[in-house]
Amino acid sequence: MPDTDDAPPSRRDFLYFATASTGAVVVGAAGWGLMNQMNPSADVRAEASILVDIAGIAPGTQLTVQWQGKPVFIRRRTPAEIEAARAVALDQLIDRSAENANKPDATATDENRTLDTAGEWLVMVGVCTHLGCVPIGDKAGDFGGWFCPCHGSHYDTAGRIRKGPAPRNLDIPRAEFTDTATLRLG
Ligand code: FES
Repeated sequence: MPDTDDAPPSRRDFLYFATASTGAVVVGAAGWGLMNQMNPSADVRAEASILVDIAGIAPGTQLTVQWQGKPVFIRRRTPAEIEAARAVALDQLIDRSAENANKPDATATDENRTLDTAGEWLVMVGVCTHLGCVPIGDKAGDFGGWFCPCHGSHYDTAGRIRKGPAPRNLDIPRAEFTDTATLRLG
């Protein structure tokens, strides 16, 4: 059960571990401090940033975490996935915007979609931009990225829509590395 607004914050408020095969999620303590001061509702707390332990994510695998009520895919791409994404010219794309909250006006090159310049880390909201289903990942669909089977939207290895009814690339949330093994979402 959540703490009442009058109760002092417990350790549970600071640390929330989401079990996953390759990592853990920690509610951001910095975000909590401000939020607790404001005596927020549960809805507001859901907006807080989270820290994600990415140390266990091997190349070619991904971790899905819940953030702001949505799945977020954190994929560590292989060299082949990076190469495939970087070989695509902008004029081949349906949506030429990066849809990256960290680079608001950028075009949808692979370099503008990834969190690191080498292109290993791709972080995306796992919600299809057609009608909101959760796409299947791990080299799915005609472009080796993600596939949304309900109406047939195919995303490439950079999460860009390449075929089907979805109008936009998968959204990239605000995110940054806080150290080599930790990612902050929000
Ligand atoms: S919701 Fe993804 S294709 Fe329709």
